[in-house]
Amino acid sequence: MGSSEQHILVTGGAGYIGTHCSVQLLQEGYRVSMIDNFYNSVMEAVDNVKELVGPSLAKKLQLYKVDLRNIDELEKVFSLNRYDAVIHFGALKAVGESMQHPFRYFDNNLIGTINLYQVMAKHKVKKMVFSSSATVYGQPGKVPCVEDFPYIPMNPYGRTKVYCEEMGKDVQKADPEWRIIALRYFNPVGAHESGKLGEDPKGIPNNLMPYLHQVAVGRLPELNVYGHDYPTKDGTAVRDYIHVMDLADGHIAALKKLFTDEDIGFTVYNLGTGKGTSVLEMVAAFEKACGKKIPIKLCPRRPGDATAVYAATDKAQKELGWKPKYGVEEMCRDQWNWAKKNPMGYQKKA
Ligand code: UFG
Repeated sequence: MGSSEQHILVTGGAGYIGTHCSVQLLQEGYRVSMIDNFYNSVMEAVDNVKELVGPSLAKKLQLYKVDLRNIDELEKVFSLNRYDAVIHFGALKAVGESMQHPFRYFDNNLIGTINLYQVMAKHKVKKMVFSSSATVYGQPGKVPCVEDFPYIPMNPYGRTKVYCEEMGKDVQKADPEWRIIALRYFNPVGAHESGKLGEDPKGIPNNLMPYLHQVAVGRLPELNVYGHDYPTKDGTAVRDYIHVMDLADGHIAALKKLFTDEDIGFTVYNLGTGKGTSVLEMVAAFEKACGKKIPIKLCPRRPGDATAVYAATDKAQKELGWKPKYGVEEMCRDQWNWAKKNPMGYQKKA
């Protein structure tokens, strides 16, 4: 259990992973302050976090509508509360958008993180769990991806994740009191089992799971399967999908590591299941979960996509004592539960 004295600041707390993680934190006994600029998230998600944890734990949750780029406002939040650690999710994450608008990514993801490190240092809050991504591996020469593989980011979004990891390394080297864990997520999918929290992307989804969700509820006519000539079992690309609840648990494990391991320094862990699933396998699993046929169209490869990406999981399992509990079946079950209860996402209930 987290001590009731431990207060965690969660940036991007109203977002997809931030909400799931905040529920777990509150249920583990931590106090939580969320910071969010609501660029890609909605207040209803925060209301649902409160509803899920119940009124007494909801009292331990504070929300600040603050943009990390506004250092004065960030400073105010830190002067109001004494934090024990920060979990830093707050960032933009769309690969395509980052190629069209690189400055948007440098501004949000880099300036936001620089400000956060500076304000944390000033207030002597020197423990951070950083939201990184398997995107730093790019097109890996071999799989599974091991944490010491070289950085090969393929787009501005991926580069911001690399730079932020490097920043963390430098900050920690300059002041060894810092303890920083960067978690490299593979493909987070699924939703809270209640169906009250889930991913709700703006516009047409880029990612496979929200796209399947929208086809299944009739918002989109068919799934475009990008590439069917990859050297894989069925010709479609292979990824390591991980249930968002397992990912949230991984953050709790990382946080506990920060509080207990004084030699952690700056350390990176993959958060994945270690299992590769093809696009067609994912479609089949989703069809089984929702009981509907998902129309597909076989399309050319999407530029920049890797053939197969999945995680080496030994380091996280051994050092964090964390292991994912859910498989693709549960990921699709919970995604579908969220989809059918909220076909239009948070905003417009059917
Ligand atoms: N795919 C389709 N049709 C779609 C969407 C996706 O066939 O409509 C395929 C993709 O081509 C890919 C697989 O489904 O083979 C998974 O695609 P996603 O977009 O869901 O996920 P990616 O693996 O491309 O992206 C993820 C994260 C990014 C990260 C990237 C690289 O979402 O944040 O991994 O590691 F940058």
